[in-house]
Amino acid sequence: MVKTIDWVDGSVIMLDQSKLPLEVIYIECRDHLKVAEGIKKLWIRGAPAIGIAASMAIALAAREIKAVTVEDFRLKLEPAFTTLLETRPTAVNIRWAVDRFRAFIGNHRDSSVERLKELLIEEARRVLAEDIEVNRAIGLWGAQFIKDGDTVLTHCNAGSLATGGYGTATAPMRVAKEQGKKFNVIADETRPVLQGARLTAWELMEDGIPVTLITDNTAGALMQKGEIDLAIVGTDRTVLNGDVANKIGTYSVAVLCKEHSIPFYVAAPLSSIDFTIPSGEFIPIEERDPEEVTHVFGTCRIAPEGVRVRNLAFDVTPARYVTAIITEKGAFRPSDLKELSDPDRDLRGFRIGNGR
Ligand code: MRU
Repeated sequence: MVKTIDWVDGSVIMLDQSKLPLEVIYIECRDHLKVAEGIKKLWIRGAPAIGIAASMAIALAAREIKAVTVEDFRLKLEPAFTTLLETRPTAVNIRWAVDRFRAFIGNHRDSSVERLKELLIEEARRVLAEDIEVNRAIGLWGAQFIKDGDTVLTHCNAGSLATGGYGTATAPMRVAKEQGKKFNVIADETRPVLQGARLTAWELMEDGIPVTLITDNTAGALMQKGEIDLAIVGTDRTVLNGDVANKIGTYSVAVLCKEHSIPFYVAAPLSSIDFTIPSGEFIPIEERDPEEVTHVFGTCRIAPEGVRVRNLAFDVTPARYVTAIITEKGAFRPSDLKELSDPDRDLRGFRIGNGR
């Protein structure tokens, strides 16, 4: 399985996903600004992966700080938090990482600053390791929805490349494969950055999962022909009422699924769930450079010079289109998602199926 990010010998090493699948190049980031640049330029992308990158960037930033007290150290780390939070607004995982590290520092007030710097590196590596475990759990809960002979549609890339490993939307596929089920995956190409064509198709082929690539506007026709049994996508931010922000075009897929009575599943680690926002209209939606739409690979112009462009990177799928949200704690109806905000809640009565 491809590794998208790691901490190696005091540096962050990230696979430059903007070059895939044509070139496989790893970039070394020795400071947090380089990681922030990588997040902005999509060398690394996908909500959990940028949460991990932000965690490692914090550990890098911490290393540079000169402070005597933990309180002074914490204050001097704030600009790095701000830089990271400003890179990409929609995925909640960067804020999740910043919150986690703020709390971590708060819990280590009695430590020396030098010891705390070491502990922050360990914590960043823990974020990566935990992410893989979380995805595996999502896979175990989600594989129940994939039956032998099914064809699964996915949109964008919510695979290994978008996470520490294993993927979120791809995790149920990986577990279903381990369980011996035979199924096919259809990957939407995902205009304009082509994460489906460049990344999902590539990584599923690398891992021996049968995949067919389609243009985004083919999905409806295949549903009409009865060639798609279910859809599984990832999320950048799912909120309290079960509304789901994900890659632009996800909403169209969800509406098409509803029209054709096809179940639409969202794989969502708790790190991508924002319990502070009541509904999807409050989710900040990133708008990106028009060049992503007017050019292919940044070089080949495909639209007239000067044309007006809207390039929304994400959309919001209302909860009513979502069959279930698959988390590491089980699969839930969107209306039951709020139960997860209480870590002590007994979730047994809310889970769909058991999947284990
Ligand atoms: O712009 P991107 O490539 O970062 O968008 C990624 C997505 O929309 C993914 O579906 C989402 O982050 C979930 S990744 C497990």
